[in-house]
Amino acid sequence: MKNILIIGGGAMGSAFTIPCLENNNKVTITEPYNKSFIKNLSSKKKYHSSLKLQLPRKLKFKNFSKNILNEKFDLIVIALSLPGIDFIGRELKDLRIKTPILILTKGLKYDKKNNKIVTIPELLNKKYNVINVSTLKGPCLAKELANKKQTNVVIANKKIKIAKWIGKQISTKYYLTEFSKDIIGIEICSAIKNIYSMIIGAGQSLNTSSGLFQKSVVEMKYLIKYFKGDEKTIYGLAGTGDLYVSAAGGRNSKMGSYLGKGYTFKTAKKKFMYRDTVEGEQLAKEIAPFIFKKINKKRIPLMLNLLRAIIKNKRLKLT
Ligand SMILES: NC(=O)c1ccc[n+]([C@@H]2O[C@H](COP(=O)([O-])OP(=O)(O)OC[C@H]3O[C@@H](n4cnc5c(N)ncnc54)[C@H](O)[C@@H]3O)[C@@H](O)[C@H]2O)c1
Repeated sequence: MKNILIIGGGAMGSAFTIPCLENNNKVTITEPYNKSFIKNLSSKKKYHSSLKLQLPRKLKFKNFSKNILNEKFDLIVIALSLPGIDFIGRELKDLRIKTPILILTKGLKYDKKNNKIVTIPELLNKKYNVINVSTLKGPCLAKELANKKQTNVVIANKKIKIAKWIGKQISTKYYLTEFSKDIIGIEICSAIKNIYSMIIGAGQSLNTSSGLFQKSVVEMKYLIKYFKGDEKTIYGLAGTGDLYVSAAGGRNSKMGSYLGKGYTFKTAKKKFMYRDTVEGEQLAKEIAPFIFKKINKKRIPLMLNLLRAIIKNKRLKLT
């Protein structure tokens, strides 16, 4: 039995508690930001409003404070969305916690000072001195995991032993883990699939979307190589695996479908998805300054068209 702390009580952090508990771990969840999740998790029934189910009674909730990070855990899991990464980085800064840290968050950051795109593990390490960071990615809808549907994910760390140790603590019959050393490739894939799933969603027929799927894979492969990941990672769970699930359903492909119908991004957001967080939008805004300036325009025409649609509010072109 290990002692696991999960930071982030949204859909994913909460769903992740289920295999961890089933694997006989002691699991504590904390939520630093969202009042409604705090209310859900601290209530007696533990009914989660996004997952629409009751979380196990064994799950322990603690209010977030810096002190909690100094308590003794065997594994710390970060399940905040991208805007929460700098927050948790600041909280962890210089604590020199040796405990393995596992990142579920998908996304990339733009380091303005050095004009560079950085992965989340790299940002935590270089900017906030966080050590021993692994990442877990793959096709996983939180609601399906919470309902124990078979889910396959990949855990990455250059030290594969650490990735395998984490896998042993969290895998169950329905939560299956693979391992990889390619942290960069996995982080790039799992982030940019939010943009490519919008592009695929923009196709207004299966024929069009399938063609866009194939072209997206080619661009993703190019980008993985550009950022010095292993291009084979595109064929893994964090690549085509995650691209499939995001293109088949979810908020990014829904936004893509409006863009494909000819709405501009601003109109579509206001008219149909006012309250929804579209992760591809957050990522597009983060990486656009770098992509526009630095990357060979001929190699990633779909990505550029999508970035223009979001940043410049232009109608999306798919050719
Ligand atoms: N690795 C995986 O298998 C996997 C699967 C699904 C989702 N995800 C990723 O997990 C992350 C969370 O997804 P979710 O579905 O739980 O989202 P959610 O909206 O349900 O929860 C978001 C979480 O981030 C926190 N947060 C948001 N903005 C914040 C801020 N400014 N400061 C601090 N905390 C903030 C919220 O309080 C909440 O805990 C996303 O990056 C998503 O892509 C990972």
